[in-house]
Amino acid sequence: MSFTIAIDGPAAAGKGTISKAVARHFGFAHLDTGLLYRAVGAKTLRGADAIEAARGLQAADLEGDALRSPEVAQAASKVAVIPEVRAALVDFQRAFARRSGGAVLDGRDIGTVICPEAEAKLFVTASAEVRAERRYLELVDKGHETSRDNVLADVVARDARDRDRATAPLVAAEDAVLIDTSEMDIDAAVAAAIAAVEARRP
Ligand code: CDP
Repeated sequence: MSFTIAIDGPAAAGKGTISKAVARHFGFAHLDTGLLYRAVGAKTLRGADAIEAARGLQAADLEGDALRSPEVAQAASKVAVIPEVRAALVDFQRAFARRSGGAVLDGRDIGTVICPEAEAKLFVTASAEVRAERRYLELVDKGHETSRDNVLADVVARDARDRDRATAPLVAAEDAVLIDTSEMDIDAAVAAAIAAVEARRP
């Protein structure tokens, strides 16, 4: 049996935490597709060509805390506008989505492009200020030196690049359930996500 849960939304909306909790709840596998773009972005920061890096991506490239840095996030959103980079990553994501036993994928285009036939689609969002504050606290916790203003500017720049690109722009699928986490704590957001998925289960 395959059952795909697509979780999309803008930067730092809480998709990662929600996706992990939803996957754990249903006993499904989880793929953070942002890591694929972050891994390609990280390679370009070391001088690689983006398209070649995407075509040659290995599982080991997805490991390491360095992928979580703000520099890598910006590089990820720059390589993510390149159609050939996106195309190189499609098959892996689609195979993961349809694996037996169920899968949760989080990203920007899962419900629209990668898996439009997903059984459950969520679009997780929050105000830019709330998202930036959460990401700021996360980065400081991991020892990054940054300021709230820098993080907000990064988030806003990345959202604009993700929304305005021609290929697979960030947009909610028409049949996605919208979850605005601006005024929710993480437990409430996870509960809302699980309830939305339950409603789609046979
Ligand atoms: O964790 P956060 O929401 O900050 O970002 P991420 O999900 O790790 O994604 C990093 C960047 O990869 C995004 O800003 C997008 O440009 C790109 N991305 C994408 O284009 N499509 C996806 N399915 C996932 C990420």
